[in-house]
Amino acid sequence: MAAPTLTVIDNRTGKKVDLPIENGAIRATDLAQLGIVSYDPALINTAACKSKVSYIDGERGILRYRGYPIEALAEQSSFLETAYLIVKGELPTTSHFRMWQHNIKTHTLIHENLKHFIEGFRYDAHPMGILIGTVGALSTFYPEAKHVLDLESRRMQTRRLIGKMPTMAAFAYRHSRGLPYVYPDNDLSYTGNFLSMMFRMTELKYRPDPVLENALDVLFILHADHEQNCSTTTMRTIGSSLADPYVAVAGAAAALAGPRHGSANEEVVHMLHEIGSKDRVPALIKQVKSGERRLMGFGHRVYKNYDPRAKIIKRIAHQVFEVTGKNPLIDIALELERIALEDEYFVSRRLYPNVDFYSGIIYEAMSLPLPMFPVLFAIARTSGWMAQWAELILDEEQKITRPKQVYVGYDERNYVPLDQRRDGGALETEVYGPL
Ligand code: CMC
Repeated sequence: MAAPTLTVIDNRTGKKVDLPIENGAIRATDLAQLGIVSYDPALINTAACKSKVSYIDGERGILRYRGYPIEALAEQSSFLETAYLIVKGELPTTSHFRMWQHNIKTHTLIHENLKHFIEGFRYDAHPMGILIGTVGALSTFYPEAKHVLDLESRRMQTRRLIGKMPTMAAFAYRHSRGLPYVYPDNDLSYTGNFLSMMFRMTELKYRPDPVLENALDVLFILHADHEQNCSTTTMRTIGSSLADPYVAVAGAAAALAGPRHGSANEEVVHMLHEIGSKDRVPALIKQVKSGERRLMGFGHRVYKNYDPRAKIIKRIAHQVFEVTGKNPLIDIALELERIALEDEYFVSRRLYPNVDFYSGIIYEAMSLPLPMFPVLFAIARTSGWMAQWAELILDEEQKITRPKQVYVGYDERNYVPLDQRRDGGALETEVYGPL
């Protein structure tokens, strides 16, 4: 059998080296013997860790958590059970699951001071900004969280974060509406309690609609983890400095907040409202093809096939509409998908609907407000962030993240005193981009 190596010849010097291939990868550090670095902006073809948490086959449209197909989990599991699987590596037994539910529910309340902290935000603050600030502030409430090498501490912060994220998220929403905060109801399921904290008014007990509660639970399952995406990579990068997990989750949530990542679902709904009717779909497609804008909710770095999560969501949409009535945006979305999937521009670039294309339509039908969409994503993804963070901490190969750069700036320059400088330095537009 051929040796599992890659032979590299530096044609500048004639030097030849054999680089071992392990798990389909060479080590970029092995290139150092040639005095070469690998240049990979956006880390498109660079694996920065080994992970056992989730697996994607982008060609075949496959997603698995810890080996279990996403379809089976969406069909048969619950979000809290899936979170257990992701965090602990195995599905729980009945008694372990009971204990896990108890442990998460014990941590759904937040410190009253944190409530006052939320009140400090302006009434119209975006809830994602409030969530990022509030989860970062938790670091000051639990200073012992800095003991990241301590297993018990890691376990405790994981329970706290999974338990408290829905509460902080719902409080952020209630603040924006000037509504009183609703404290957690631990008799309800994880998602049922979240809906109660969002929507309960004067009734003594909030009873979530079981179809909507289940739909939200499935949506949370679908968003729980997704390999080394932008926010997870941020979580690992911050975690690699051994910062505590609260500030790392704040950073991960900040990465999630961008429209290319977790805010895409919000952007999709804006886009569909803007289109307004099916007959205006071709005009939008034209704008996209001319490079004026992107079709939000389409395309993915890894999936070059239909995102398996989008397929599941499309199915749930119909269950939700039976309760809420049809969201008219679905017709525009289906038309958009139909035209895009036949169009050479999208076909040749292998652009398919991703998880965000349909999720926003369901959230909107459930009366979840638009600015909360990325927040919902963050609640669900917290389990994935914590699992990936724990994996990083235990990985003996991991050090502080510190990539190389290819320097393309000036060579050494002599400092010119202020009164001797003339116009003609670098144009501002060279640094900031065109006006
Ligand atoms: N609409 C139009 N063209 C697109 C789109 C899109 N949504 N996505 C990619 N392209 C084109 C892009 O212009 C480029 O074309 P060309 O080769 O002619 O320059 C080609 O496809 C490759 O695009 P890319 O930007 O190199 O791809 P990427 O892997 O860097 O970006 C992405 C992935 C998800 C950021 C991108 O597809 C995108 O911006 N999609 C819209 C935002 C979105 O829906 N994000 C949610 C992603 S799924 C949930 C999550 O993980 O957060």
